[in-house]
Amino acid sequence: APTPEEIEEIMAPHLDREGPLLPILHAVQANLGCVPESAVPVIAKRLNLTAAEVHGVVSFYHDFRKAPAGRHVVKICRAEACQSVGATALTERALERLGIGWGGTTPDGGVTVEPVYCLGLCACGPAAMVDGRVVGRLDEAKLDAILEEARA
Ligand code: FES
Repeated sequence: APTPEEIEEIMAPHLDREGPLLPILHAVQANLGCVPESAVPVIAKRLNLTAAEVHGVVSFYHDFRKAPAGRHVVKICRAEACQSVGATALTERALERLGIGWGGTTPDGGVTVEPVYCLGLCACGPAAMVDGRVVGRLDEAKLDAILEEARA
């Protein structure tokens, strides 16, 4: 885990900004690959916030991870249009087979599955983003193939 000094160092360039919390959280994630639990009280203290307030922001923005991502990141759209064509149910079956939850990473470190809220592909949902590349019209076979390939 990072030391409080490391967190302080990452925060330092952003402290003078207006609304420094988001830039700080982004900087922490860029440096450490995630926003670790241990960083929360350090950030809270420095910004005169409570740990609960910082936690609230970290969990509100789905871009922040609590643990480093796997080698590949598959983001599945959970916004309304994709929900209505079964994206969530489809993904939850796949997650169950992988033995992980939303935001989780397979034990082999191969793939992280995260929710995303609209990729602008609403007309061809269920939609996903695989390492930054968008994929539409997901079905069980396609999602399985993506996850297999990601873990290979
Ligand atoms: Fe899924 Fe827009 S709702 S891409």
